[in-house]
Parts: sequence; C-alpha cells; structure tokens
Amino acid sequence: MNFELTVLPVADISGELEVIIVVDTNLKHRFVQDKKLLKKAGFSCGQDETCLLIEKNRLYVGAGSLKSTDIRRAAANALKALKGTKYKSIKVATYTNKGCTYTLRAMIEGFILGGYSFETYKSKKNKSRIKEISVSLEEYSELTLDIEKAAEQVHKAQIIADATNFTRDIVNTTPDDCYPDVMASIAEGMAEDVGLECTVLKPKQLRREKMETLLAVARASRHNPRVIHLTHKPKNAKHKITLVGKGLTYDSGGLSLKPADYMVTMKSDKSGGSAVLGIMKAVAELDLPIEVHGFVGAVENMIGGDAYKPDDVLVAKNGKTIEIRNTDAEGRLVLADVLCYAQQEVKADYIFDFATLTGASVVAVGHYTSSIMGNNKEIQNLVVREAQNAGELATALDFNDYLKKTIKSEIADVCNISNTRYGGAITAGQFLSEFIDKKHIDRWAHIDIAGPAFVEHPWGENPHGASGAGVRMMVKLLEKLAQEKEIHQKG
Ligand code: BES
Ligand code: ZN
Ligand code: ZN
Repeated sequence: MNFELTVLPVADISGELEVIIVVDTNLKHRFVQDKKLLKKAGFSCGQDETCLLIEKNRLYVGAGSLKSTDIRRAAANALKALKGTKYKSIKVATYTNKGCTYTLRAMIEGFILGGYSFETYKSKKNKSRIKEISVSLEEYSELTLDIEKAAEQVHKAQIIADATNFTRDIVNTTPDDCYPDVMASIAEGMAEDVGLECTVLKPKQLRREKMETLLAVARASRHNPRVIHLTHKPKNAKHKITLVGKGLTYDSGGLSLKPADYMVTMKSDKSGGSAVLGIMKAVAELDLPIEVHGFVGAVENMIGGDAYKPDDVLVAKNGKTIEIRNTDAEGRLVLADVLCYAQQEVKADYIFDFATLTGASVVAVGHYTSSIMGNNKEIQNLVVREAQNAGELATALDFNDYLKKTIKSEIADVCNISNTRYGGAITAGQFLSEFIDKKHIDRWAHIDIAGPAFVEHPWGENPHGASGAGVRMMVKLLEKLAQEKEIHQKG
C-alpha cells in the first residue's frame, strides 16, 4: 500500500473512490451532498457502519468520535468494505482531533490493518486490491496541518502497522510450516533486512545455559527448540529494554492433553514471541534511540514416550526446582528459563514479557483485553496507558500474597499450577515473578495477551486470525521512553 500526502483539496486529487469518514457531530459538512441517498440506504453514521455509493465512487464510513481509536476502526472498516471490489486507488481527507496528527497516524494504521488478510493456504486469493491511497491534508475543521509533521506520522504508521501484519503472518502460519527453527529463520531474515543483531541458541547451547525446563517442554517434539536473541543497539542509547516472548509454535497441552475443541487455534500460542519479532522490526525501522533486546523461546509442546510428565520436578536456569502437575502450563516453564537467560545477558531498565499464558486471563478480562501484571504499579499503569494510546485494550491485574501461596509445592520450590481454580492469570504471573531476580523485580511487567492475540470473530481493526496484539502497545511505550530523559524507577 502506497500513501501519498498532499495539501491539495480532495476534489483535486486522483483516486478512483473517495472515502468519507462521518462522525456523528460532523453531519453538516461533506455529508450534505449525499444526504438523501445515505438516508435511503439507512446509513446513520454509527461506528462500524459503512455505505458504498458505487455510482458516485464514494464510500461513507461512520465513526463514533474523532478519537484515534474510532478513526482507526473507521479506516479499517473502509478497507474491509472495499474487499472484493475492483477499486485500486482511493483518496481521503484528513480527520484530526483539534489538529492533532495522531489521528492521521491512526487512520493510516487502520487502512493497513483493515486491509490485511491471510491467504497463504487459499487457492483462490481475494486480497485487498487497494494499492494507492492519496491523503489530502484538507481537513474538515479547517485547521492547517504541517505537511512535514503529517508525513512523519504517516511514515510511523506504516512501520507500525506493517510490523503488526508481519506478526500476524507468523502467528497465522500453521504449526507444520512454522516450528521453532522456522521462527528462528524468520527472525534472522528480518534482522538482516532491518539491521538488527541476531543470535540463535540451539539445544547444545541451551543445555550449556542450563535451560532445562525449556528443554523438558520441548522434549517430545520432533522439532528442536530455539532461543532467539535480537538486539537493537544505537549509539548513545538512553535506556536499555528487554522484551521476552512465549513462542509455543504449538501447544497440544502435552501429556495433560487439551480437549479437542481447546486445541484448535493453539498455533497462536507463539503470539508473544511473534509480537517480540514485530516490535523489534518496528524499533529498528524507527531507529529508536534506545537499546532494545528481544528474546523468544520457540518451542513445541507435544506428547510422546519422551514427554515431560506431571510429577516430574524440573530445575530452572536460576536453580529453582519446579513441581510439574500439569504439562499444559508449559508457557511459564519456557518463560522462566528465557527470563533468567535474558537477565543474565542484559541488565535492563525495564523487562516486558508477552505471552498467551492463560485461558484464565480471557475469562477475567474478556477476549479483547490484555492483562498487565507485575510488582510495580507504575509500570503496569504505563503499559495500560500506552496500550490505550496505541489502540489496544489492556488492564492491570494485581498480585496478592494469598494467591502467591497457592503455587507452593510440598516437594519442590514452586509448583507450575495453582491449587485453586480461580485467579489463574495472576498465579501464572506470580509464578513468573519467581524467575525475576531482585535487581529487576520492580522493573518488570508481564503482559498476558491470551485474549486478544487470536481473533475468531472480527472486531475493530482486526480481521479473522492473529491480531498482532502487543506490537502497537509496546512500540508506543518504547517511543515514549525514547522521548524521556529520566526513568522513574520504583513506584
Ligand atoms: N496456551 C495456553 C493458554 C491459552 C488458552 C492461550 C486459551 C490462548 C487461549 C496455556 O499454555 C495453557 O494451556 N494454560 C492453561 C494453564 C492451566 C493448566 C493452569 C490454561 O489456561 O488452562
Ligand atoms: Zn498450555
Ligand atoms: Zn501455551
């Protein structure tokens, strides 16, 4: 998708079809010209409504407000509505909220995210044909926008939305086509393209690093595990950030096998790791002035004679012993070792991990929202805020001492599941916290993306399949840190 930015009014620029976003409060403007037709079509400018006036080459899309989230959704809906049509180019005016160019960025993101479809396995492709989008800086509120500032937002939007779609592609790829070694190759290829360092640890090195819990989870799979480490290291970097992702290329549950209905979509259990790859891509392309390290534990959780078992006791990289009572709680085992490894390799100002860790997170907050956990309220709030600024939903879940006791083990240092059915997202987070060392304990946040990572019924700017959850939220947060001079430690 190419974007052209111009100061010319929409009427004077080329584009086979004009997209017109109508906000409830904005009825008087452009809307006037087709008012009768729109009324006849039953279009009432609500969010998620679209009306294609094919003879006029105009597409009207409703937006609840001029807020970025609503404009992003409206733009995504426009592209969805044009799927299957023959239009190749569109034109659109700019809709800013009091001249703020973030809404322009949101609109561009919406076009790219809404135009996405995954058709690798379809014989007959039905990809969006829209290739050219001309954006006029003509603005309904008649504010004049600085074209350079606007161009910068368009550029950023393209990088971020493309990175999100890159993540979506990885997650949507089937487990037989995307197993740990493939994930590592994708990381290496991407690193080469955008100028990141990339190292990949194979089983021999993983054993040397004493990542025995990760190796145990991987044992029954015919695909060997990998740990990927990507580095973005600009000169005079302000901060050092570590990202860690759960990359379960398939989660069958292991010997604690998932029921048939629950196993479908478990190709998406690599969403955290895939998000880390997407974030690193965007960080490199934006060339953010901060040092960022991305670690991914790429593993397949299968069954077989060599599988790890409930009743096993595993020793994690930091020496802690873990009683296994359920092999389906494997993500936390993989993350335990990768978190330890990441802390050994990098002394970071902040550590964020991304994982489709628990069904309990989906039960707790619904399938649109990520759960943010950790020991530092300020960092949790920072993630929640930046997620919202980026158009993702996130909410903080608080740890507590009582739930902490439920992961105690009679025979080992900690148990991999809780002794209660409730609060499973939090107990999983508290399990991870056992593998964060003292130095980092209040610099870490755990982001459970189990809800929004995979979309079965399209919503917002997310078509069916992987959403790329985590990418926009973290890039926004990293952009924010890159602007800051000082980090406030402790909260
Ligand atoms: N990958 C799953 C969590 C998951 C569930 C992600 C639904 C996305 C959608 C994870 O490995 C898992 O199976 N967790 C168990 C933990 C339980 C055994 C304590 C779960 O959530 O049931
Ligand atoms: Zn599992
Ligand atoms: Zn899992």
